[in-house]
Amino acid sequence: MQIATTRDVLRNALDVLRQQGAGRIALVPTMGALHEGHLTLVRRARTAADHVVASIFVNPKQFGANEDLDAYPRQLAADAAMLEGEGCALLWAPQVEEIYPAGFATNVSVAGVSEGLCGAARPGHFDGVATVVLKLFNQVQPDMAFFGEKDFQQLAVIRTMARDLDLTRPHVGAIIGVPTMREVDGVAMSSRNRYLSPAQRGSAAALPAAMQAAIAAIENGSDVVLSLERLEAALIAAGFDSIDYAVLADAVSLAPLKALGDTPARLLVAARIGGTRLIDNMPAEPRSA
Ligand code: PAF
Repeated sequence: MQIATTRDVLRNALDVLRQQGAGRIALVPTMGALHEGHLTLVRRARTAADHVVASIFVNPKQFGANEDLDAYPRQLAADAAMLEGEGCALLWAPQVEEIYPAGFATNVSVAGVSEGLCGAARPGHFDGVATVVLKLFNQVQPDMAFFGEKDFQQLAVIRTMARDLDLTRPHVGAIIGVPTMREVDGVAMSSRNRYLSPAQRGSAAALPAAMQAAIAAIENGSDVVLSLERLEAALIAAGFDSIDYAVLADAVSLAPLKALGDTPARLLVAARIGGTRLIDNMPAEPRSA
């Protein structure tokens, strides 16, 4: 696996890959600190494309002033070994100056879908995500790109950007969401789980359990507001400190729903335990399903 840290090296390496086989390239963008969830994205990408390019870039523009960019785990050598083990062809691992050179002045902002849920608690976060993902798409020009559904709002923001800006590499239909990988107790895999104490990690299992219970209730006709209140109460009883949001939303626009309709819906939750903010989401079947 080649590791490119400059755009010139990246461009040459991509030219070589495109000349091999059918040359279809899949991009798996990451911020490193890889876990099984990321490796699943690489495996899915390998089945769909001829070559997988992964990127590792801890993107300063998606960290808020109160979020500790410096504390974000960085383990490039270990991550590179994992990616190589999964058959990744190329790793794009630029320094900050390579992505944001002096004078960088552009911001990509996707209104609406970026604004509620995590966007409300993390102002500017999705602008940072959209800006860097558009840059990564332009640099790698992949035929397809893979993202975890764990960050469901992020996926919706990226798809909206691709649709609105008529992106072709990749086009919106080639932005693939991969279902969340879960631990045996149902907790969504996340780089943040490493910040949980053993007791907090035990309590975290209440999140997927309470979400499944709420979805079952809503799909069986229970009132949405009441079901979400019960979900929040179950999390507090299990040891969570606070709930940022627990929302049933349209799965595409992420507009909040008061009841299931005919189109796909999603239950999205963010809750805090100790200093750690956990997010999760699950599908809810539309009424006609
Ligand atoms: O999901 C992530 O790891 C990041 O938000 C992404 C998509 C790589 C952009 O920095």
